[in-house]
Formats: sequence, structure tokens, C-alpha cells
Amino acid sequence: MATEQKAKMIVDKAFKIAEVDPRIYGSFIEHLGRAVYGGIYEPEHPTADANGFRQDVKDLIHELQVPIIRYPGGNFVSGYNWEDGVGPIEDRPRRTELAWRVVEPNWVGTNEFATWAKELGTEVMMAVNLGTRGVDAARNLLEYCNHPGGTYWSDLRIKHGYKEPHKIKTWCLGNEMDGPWQIGQKTAEEYGRLAYETGKAMRLLDPDIQLVSCGSSSAQMPTFPQWEATTLDHTYDVSDFISLHQYYGNRDNNSANYLARTMDMDHFIKTVISTCDYIKAKKRSKKTMYLSFDEWNVWYHSNDQDRQIEPWGIAPPQLEDLYNFEDALLVGGMLITLLRHADRVKMACMAQLVNVIAPIMTEQGGVAWKQTIFYPYLHASIYGRGVSLLPIVDSPKYDAQDYTDVPYLDSAVVYNEEKQEITIFALNRNLTDAMELSCDVRSFEGYGIVEHIVLEHDNLKATNSAVEEKVRPHSNGVSVLKDGFIQAQIGKASWNVIRLKKVAE
Ligand code: AHR
Repeated sequence: MATEQKAKMIVDKAFKIAEVDPRIYGSFIEHLGRAVYGGIYEPEHPTADANGFRQDVKDLIHELQVPIIRYPGGNFVSGYNWEDGVGPIEDRPRRTELAWRVVEPNWVGTNEFATWAKELGTEVMMAVNLGTRGVDAARNLLEYCNHPGGTYWSDLRIKHGYKEPHKIKTWCLGNEMDGPWQIGQKTAEEYGRLAYETGKAMRLLDPDIQLVSCGSSSAQMPTFPQWEATTLDHTYDVSDFISLHQYYGNRDNNSANYLARTMDMDHFIKTVISTCDYIKAKKRSKKTMYLSFDEWNVWYHSNDQDRQIEPWGIAPPQLEDLYNFEDALLVGGMLITLLRHADRVKMACMAQLVNVIAPIMTEQGGVAWKQTIFYPYLHASIYGRGVSLLPIVDSPKYDAQDYTDVPYLDSAVVYNEEKQEITIFALNRNLTDAMELSCDVRSFEGYGIVEHIVLEHDNLKATNSAVEEKVRPHSNGVSVLKDGFIQAQIGKASWNVIRLKKVAE
């Protein structure tokens, strides 16, 4: 029989971590699988706009309030000639694309993507190719995108029909350059030098841009964290951010261990911060390096299926993970981890956004639908804006295969002073027992509970589809606020969003 566990928490407006940078709710669209072609872009679709982009997909992205989208890769960018994707579509070349072994038709490129993003009200995080190319292609692309006019590349943009510059502020200096799978992989020394010189030239052209240098492809890379130390030694003065990438999977079907993976993510972030601060100290620098966690998600369901795909197709269904309920719980935990590091993680991208390891899926000519992971992402993006507060948590703990002392209750709190709202995000990793949470919110006088949203399901493996949304949140969570304390019922294996608002002076 399930026994009720007890946890305690203190939330105080004085325990500030930092203002949440909304860009931590960013996402990613790569020229990969059906992310672009058949995802965001499908000219024959009944909802397609004049440029061929699906309105139903745009509506879902809008619902998620995605503030920034990384583009065009990913591994794709390391072999990409950006010039192939601009100018009259009928003149664009078809290329073999070596990262994913497909044919890239170049029907969508920089201008179409930047226009689409502008219509959505989201920023573009543009990556440059530091695999097969370097300083020259990067500075030309920047000039093409951001320079007002009167020069070769900016006038070419105008000739292509885009009079106004795209004003792209955030630029990634390559992608995962430590990875043996990367086209044009570099050693840390090689990458550090190239990234520095590229960044230097780009800044000379447009001093207002922000630059992200490549960190390790994951915390499991054998060169982590020496890669960070060596590359930052070169790039520290020119970059604003260093990237982190991490994907998890429940490969051995050990759900308790899987849900504890956020411990690894937390450790990864702390190690990168320490490495950045070591280089800061070494250089006697006053500048703080920020973290861009610009690829994070669950990725493993589609691995076997992807091995069966024949090469050289156009937009085959690659990396189409079908997410289940426990994946949504882990994604909630990953969002909590990002919020708890709001002082250093200033950008993050759920990888990716549509069809490819994505919260949004599409049917060709048919509906767009929400995967299970859509919901924690939605809740964090909508309600997680304000100041991240550090909750003091006393929770029962468990030992998993790879982690000890894992708190069943994982939590982050965001205080939106302007709207006078507090949101408590709480994940219960206990797979069998519910939990009674007592939360001290006495520093917030006059607040009342607005809503307790819950994402729960009896089956950890439950999935959604185009025809049925089995995993969706409800607002029937039980939370009572009395004398400055919330008593909340936190169901077994559940994602909870407890929202408070000031109701009295
Ligand atoms: O997001 C899928 C891939 O994962 C990206 O192309 C690459 O950067 C990472 O290895």
C-alpha cells in the first residue's frame, strides 16, 4: 500500500538566485529530418501562409512563448554553405548533407527563417560554420544579415528582397567542435584559435552582437572539462557565453535512476561554472562568462529506427522520439535545474522544437500535436518569468543506481514582482508514494493560491499521438494556504505547478 511521505520547504522573497533571463526558454530548429521541411515549412498544407510556413505550427510555438530559436544547426551547420540558402529558390543548389546523410534542397534559408522568426516575435540564435569554413564565411554572413546596406553582402541581401537588416544579435561560433562525428572536428587548441579569430572579426563588423563559443558536446566527453579550459583560454575576451549540450535516455528502463539524471545536469553546470571562473581568475578578468545550455532534452527512443533510414532522402523522419510521461517528468526536472542556475545560465534551448526530438509533432497535410514534454516546457516558459528564488527543501531521499541521496522532491520557485505572482514548480520523483508538502510562504503577505496544475499518469510509458492526448495537465491539484503555510498534496510521479497571486494588501 502507498504510504504518504512528508516534505518541507521555505520560500522567502529574500532568497534570490537571480532574475530569470527569458532566453532560457529558447529552442532549436536544425535542417534535420522533418524539422524544417514538413515541420515548420509545408507549402501544400491547408494552413500554410504566403511563404509556405504552417500556421498551426506557428500557433503552438506561440503558445510556448519561445523567445529565441537556434538555427540552422547543430551538426548540419558544420558542412553548410549559407550562400546556398539565399537568392531565388529555383537557383539554389541541392547538396549532399554529410552530418545526417541526406539531400538538402535549400528551399528554406537565412532570409526565410529570419522572416518566420520575426513574425513569431522570437529572436534568432544563428550558428556559423566552423567545421568546413571559418572567419571569411562567418563575417560575410554577418554582413549579409546585419549590415544596413552599401556593401557587397548587405546589398546582395537587399537585391534578394530584404531591405531591412535582420539584426541578429546572438551568434554561435560553430557547433560541438569536440565531437568525432562533427564535420571538421577540431582539437581544443585549433578550435580556440579559430573561434577567437572568427569572433574578433565578427565583433569588428558588429560590436553589438553576443557570441557563444562551443563547450563540450556533453559532460561524458573524455575531453570534458579540459576542452572548456583550453578553448576559453583563447576565447574568454571575445565570447559572452560558453555552450553546454546534454541529452538523457532511459535505456536500461530504470525510471528511478532516469529521473535522478538532473543530478548529473546540475553537476555539469557547476563544473562548467568552475572552469569559467578558473579562466577568469587566471586572466585576472573582471568579466563573467555566462552559460548557454543550447541543446538539452531526452533523446534515445528513435535511435534504432534512425539506423534503418536509407541515406540521401529529402527530410526523412529522423530523430522522431515519441515521448512518454516519464520523459515529461525528467524534462520538468531539467527545467527546474536551469532555473536553479539562473545566475549563470542565461540562455538555453530545448532541442529541438518540431518533429526532431521535439515537443511539437506534425502530420503531413494533417494536424500538429503536442508531445508529453510540451507541458512542462509550456508551464516553465509561461509562469517561470521573474526572479528565481532558492527554495530551502527538506525532502525524503533515495538511492538510485548511479546517484545517492536523491531528494524525491525537486523544486524551483519564481517570483514575478511586477505581476505579484509566485510559481512553485515541484517534481515528485517517488514512483509509488504521494507526498504531503508543507511550504512556508510567510514572507509573501496577502497572497492566495490561484491554481495547482498537475501532470500525472498511472502509466510512466503513456504517450500522446495525433489522435489522442493521454498525457495532459489538469488543474485539480490540492493545495491550501493558511497562516502563511501551503499544505499541498503532491501525487506520486508528478509534475506540479502551484501558482499564487497577491489578493489582499
Ligand atoms: O540535436 C541533434 C544533434 O545533437 C545536433 O545536431 C548536435 O549538435 C547534437 O549532437
